[in-house]
Amino acid sequence: MPEVMNDNSYMNTFKAALSERDFKRLSKFIHSECGIKMPDSKKTMLESRLQKRLRRLKLASFTEYCDYLFSPQGIENELVHMIDVVTTNKTDFFREPGHFDYLAQKALPELIAVHGAGIRKELMVWSAGCSTGEEPYTLAIVLSEFAERCPGFKFRYLILATDISTEVLEKAKHGIYEHDKVNPLPPGMKKKYLLRGKNKSSGLVRIAPDLRSNVRFRRLNFLEGDFGMREHMDIIFCRNVIIYFDRPTQEKLLSRFCSHLGPGGYIFMGHSETLHGMNLPLLQVAPTIYRKQK
Ligand SMILES: C[S@@+](CC[C@H](N)C(=O)[O-])C[C@H]1O[C@@H](n2cnc3c(N)ncnc32)[C@H](O)[C@@H]1O
Repeated sequence: MPEVMNDNSYMNTFKAALSERDFKRLSKFIHSECGIKMPDSKKTMLESRLQKRLRRLKLASFTEYCDYLFSPQGIENELVHMIDVVTTNKTDFFREPGHFDYLAQKALPELIAVHGAGIRKELMVWSAGCSTGEEPYTLAIVLSEFAERCPGFKFRYLILATDISTEVLEKAKHGIYEHDKVNPLPPGMKKKYLLRGKNKSSGLVRIAPDLRSNVRFRRLNFLEGDFGMREHMDIIFCRNVIIYFDRPTQEKLLSRFCSHLGPGGYIFMGHSETLHGMNLPLLQVAPTIYRKQK
């Protein structure tokens, strides 16, 4: 364990400086472990976000932090915290709403007609890079609404939601949000799918248990070997994640997604993420929406 500082009051205000050398060590490590690009323009962000880890570990410098992080003990205990700090988790309910309209109006009827997805077997949806849960719960709402409108048969679905960060996954599993966060939901859906907090929890809402039971959360780093996944997906949402990766990593990752997608399955990407020029068995069917060729 590295040398520790003892003066608590000093440590609370102390700010270590990140040298060029330590920044390079960290950015190389973050890129190789999580695929996340850390260009020079991110140095100040990294320096300020990691201060709380130095304070928590009572370390006096970034050099000590790097030495600890790269040690076997650091890889085991600190890597997960470092990842929580460096990942960007911004998300919302019904983010990029056009995707959910396309899902209900085009993708689901097509998957039912061609494969009987959701009828002969559960429809499988993967929210890859799910952050604090707003995306998978939005999917669950849209799929539940769709199921209600299906006449004469029971439409079944399961959502797998994964992220590299244990911190966001904890929040996602609880499914508790501030009132403001659920503003994008129409009033009817709020009534149906949210429980209102009382007393100390007023101002908070919780996703209803029925909806939560259709979402399974799991930690998964896209860069780690095999995804450990046996299921074949009908739909993959991987939005606003690959933007942080370099082009070869993006292409490798998308190719692996394709191998987990059934024929005719759909991939939804973020608004600024294009797969143009990548050698993939996908056909673009709408802006940022792709379909696996049969
Ligand atoms: C900006 S959020 C996107 C959330 C949601 N998909 C959306 O569009 O609203 C990106 C998420 O990707 C996750 N992420 C970053 N690198 C990852 C990796 N190597 N493996 C898995 N998830 C990763 C982050 O932890 C973060 O929660």
